[in-house]
Amino acid sequence: MSNGHTFHRGRRLRRTPAIRSMVRETRLSPDTFMFPIFVTHGKNVREPIEPMPGIAQLSVDNLKAEVDEIASLGIPSVLLFGIPESKDSRGTGGYAKDGIVQNAVREIKSAQPDLVVTTDVCMCEYTDHGHCGILLPNGEVNNDETLPLLAETAVSHVEAGADIVAPSAMMDGQIAAIRAGLDSAGHTETTLMAYAAKYSSAFYGPFRVAADSAPKQGDRRSYQMDPANGREAMREVRADIAEGADIVMVKPALEYLDIIRMARRVSEVPVAAYNVSGEYSMLKAAAQNGWIDEDRAIIEVLTSISRAGADIIITYHAKEAIPLIDG
Ligand code: PBG
Repeated sequence: MSNGHTFHRGRRLRRTPAIRSMVRETRLSPDTFMFPIFVTHGKNVREPIEPMPGIAQLSVDNLKAEVDEIASLGIPSVLLFGIPESKDSRGTGGYAKDGIVQNAVREIKSAQPDLVVTTDVCMCEYTDHGHCGILLPNGEVNNDETLPLLAETAVSHVEAGADIVAPSAMMDGQIAAIRAGLDSAGHTETTLMAYAAKYSSAFYGPFRVAADSAPKQGDRRSYQMDPANGREAMREVRADIAEGADIVMVKPALEYLDIIRMARRVSEVPVAAYNVSGEYSMLKAAAQNGWIDEDRAIIEVLTSISRAGADIIITYHAKEAIPLIDG
């Protein structure tokens, strides 16, 4: 029975670095990374984001240096968020032709034409109440009146030069509305990356500091998903693909690795996973305290997301991970 030649001996495949590398099932590649950038108004701004060590808000004039570095590291794409100078109830800064993201896209495309520029399409950074859509008098989000504004935002991003638009408002029908808006403006070639399974998560906390986008009243539970639901996420994924999504996203990543795996199984389009701000902050805080080995933790986090089935990983670790790959 316990014959040493036949019973399972996993350690045979772990003996040396070369053997371990030969049988490694998951490999990280910078090709699959997307790096988020917070673009803010003003001149020569590089404002560190306190809960996200290493990440800063940048003004448009500081983007060239940033994207030159990103491109030189071999990271193919960025995801843009805007922090406008002023906000109002209808989030007009989000779809202004010379809005912050529109200006940022033009700047990045002139500095690095081959970089894949992706833009977040949402209203929460532009509305004075901080919700992802416009509000009814009773304070609820008005789903159907928000849709044309999201479409207008997407068209304005594409007209500035964006390659991919990524709607994150979690309004029902947003993918169909944006696809129709893009088509009727003649932008039939634009890639749509849908935040399909976007959960109502505590792990967006640091982002809301970074983007100044926390809701002033209430929360996002009437439009973002309940963390307890998995099957419902697959309905969202299927609906977004049917409405015209080219890529579907699961967000956050680490607390939802099962959802990434399920999405990989039901979807024949690429699956992206968003390793969100709170996940980044937790790792950094523990590392700063000397409680974990930062470099190993970064690679382990990204490898887990890849192993779960993500084709694209959106992560604030993208730049620092490059020299760590294949260590
Ligand atoms: C906008 C948006 C959010 C994030 C991405 N797009 C915040 C939110 O929904 O409150 C979070 C990203 C992160 O935490 O890194 N709706």
